[in-house]
Amino acid sequence: MMEPRFTGQVAIVTGSAHGIGEAIARRFASEGAAVVIADLDEQSAVATAQDIVAGGGQAIGVGVDVGKAEEVAAMVDRTIEAYGKIDVLVNNAGDVTISKHFLTTDEAWWDHFLTTNLKSMYLTCRRVAPLMAKAGGGCIINMSSGGATKSHRGMVAYDASKGGVEALTRGLALELAPYGIRVNSVVPGLIVTRPEHAEPLADERRNQTVPLGRGGTPADVAGPSVFLASKDAAYMTGSTLVVDGGVLVQQRSPQVEIFPVSYYPAIEEIV
Ligand SMILES: NC(=O)c1ccc[n+]([C@@H]2O[C@H](COP(=O)([O-])OP(=O)(O)OC[C@H]3O[C@@H](n4cnc5c(N)ncnc54)[C@H](O)[C@@H]3O)[C@@H](O)[C@H]2O)c1
Repeated sequence: MMEPRFTGQVAIVTGSAHGIGEAIARRFASEGAAVVIADLDEQSAVATAQDIVAGGGQAIGVGVDVGKAEEVAAMVDRTIEAYGKIDVLVNNAGDVTISKHFLTTDEAWWDHFLTTNLKSMYLTCRRVAPLMAKAGGGCIINMSSGGATKSHRGMVAYDASKGGVEALTRGLALELAPYGIRVNSVVPGLIVTRPEHAEPLADERRNQTVPLGRGGTPADVAGPSVFLASKDAAYMTGSTLVVDGGVLVQQRSPQVEIFPVSYYPAIEEIV
């Protein structure tokens, strides 16, 4: 039997009332950590925390806009008040909505994405890293996207923010390493976070673009993310862990592929 990996540890997971963040928070809780469900949607954050507690875990729900310094400070204070320390910070909160062509955008659109997805990570790390350093170390995990290295149409600001997330991750890894704080990022692929919004035809077409043949689930991202906070990842910092079913390694999109999957040998043809 393996020991729960995070017993006695405290993890803040931002944007964890729903989606990928919720799966990460639940995974930490199931492995013994006390978790802070920190989300703009306070009602769902509290409900998620209550559900974790009902299942025998430790959790509190906190309402926060991670783009606002004073709210981030209050979230950190609340965590210290409840649990006395912070071992893990997962900067997962992000906005993926509002696709617009660049030529129809305005400054408020740009500011919204850069604040919610990138400045937020500066604000949380600036508050949490000093506490981790004084406690002898910790682990920070920043949620990036394939958009950091390849562009989505209609998402110039989102992609710019995620490029910034990866640069921030590398910079913090260097500056915080001497204090025992490891900083890594995770690149989720096409993750279905709201199955109730699924459209079967669109999903089928999308699945054909993923080398592993399916869209990912929040649980697919939770395992690798939590691994980064474990002892097994003790020598990892400044890394980018890609969890995308193989999407980013494709050169040609399946629509224009000259050697499609249908050309691959059947099992009995393999020599
Ligand atoms: N789902 C994907 O396919 C995918 C792919 C690549 C990267 N990501 C990244 O993963 C992260 C989670 O995405 P998701 O798909 O689970 O999204 P989601 O919309 O399902 O969940 C995001 C959560 O963040 C919260 N949130 C939004 N703005 C916030 C703010 N200002 N302060 C605090 N909380 C806030 C929302 O309330 C929500 O609970 C994001 O950073 C996103 O960019 C997702």
